Amino acid sequence: MTLSPPLAARWEALLAGLARIADVHPDALLASSMGVEDTLLIHAVAQLPRPLGVFMLDTGRLHPETLAMVDVIRARYGIETRVVHPDPQAVQDHVAAHGEFAFYESVELRKACCGIRKVEPLRRLLAGHTAWITGQRREQSLTRVELPETQWDDTFGLQKFNPLAFWTTDEVWRVARALDVPYNPLHDRGYPSIGCEPCTRAVRPGEDPRAGRWWWEQRDSRECGLHAGNVRATGTPGVRPRAHLSTDITETSTS
Ligand code: ADX
Ligand code: SF4
Repeated sequence: MTLSPPLAARWEALLAGLARIADVHPDALLASSMGVEDTLLIHAVAQLPRPLGVFMLDTGRLHPETLAMVDVIRARYGIETRVVHPDPQAVQDHVAAHGEFAFYESVELRKACCGIRKVEPLRRLLAGHTAWITGQRREQSLTRVELPETQWDDTFGLQKFNPLAFWTTDEVWRVARALDVPYNPLHDRGYPSIGCEPCTRAVRPGEDPRAGRWWWEQRDSRECGLHAGNVRATGTPGVRPRAHLSTDITETSTS
């Protein structure tokens, strides 16, 4: 399958943008939850003249399908995903104090778990780096409607790039399928968004794509701390997405 001209242009712009990032920030790291946005970015990064590092935060609660994607990526691209683990003592202490499923009890305990299993390992990993890259998109969440393609991340103190910020779900899937990008099999089982196993459920057709993430919480609390700036920047949940930026080269997918 080939890409329609607008999608081909979008893809080329993505490659060019990533190449620029790699030139300016050769130490930039690509964060992969092994969702389709991230495997699409890995496909793009694999084509750069200058490779970028890829990492996955293994919280200890991920689906086996997600963990298995590390082998898929290695086999397909020869890229070794750096798998980052939480501090075992901190996990043990938290579980001893609050139990294995404390995240269902309160937003505070859920955020504490995310803090130990995701945020602290990310902070440790990013220390000393000048930039990181994520697969976040505006469409994904009320907390992301104002997401820029480039931002200073004051939570972790480095530059942050969201090169898919303006891509729609349809565009991501069209390009991924056309380029035969490997994807997490959970997507075919009703999981549009890939997270930890106990905190993520499949969604019904037509449901909000993030309806399955921390589904027992209010919508505007559903960020885990990796992207805390989104909640601060967005202000009012539910504001309309701004028009596409001038860097956005295709208005809509016409293929
Ligand atoms: S989350 O904050 O709610 O978990 P989401 O699942 O939407 O985020 O993913 C947004 C982006 O955050 C991904 O495209 C990826 O760049 C990064 N990310 C999320 N989870 C992980 C993870 N476990 N390991 C590495 N990066 C992740
Ligand atoms: Fe813990 Fe759930 Fe956060 Fe994963 S998503 S780190 S299991 S609270």
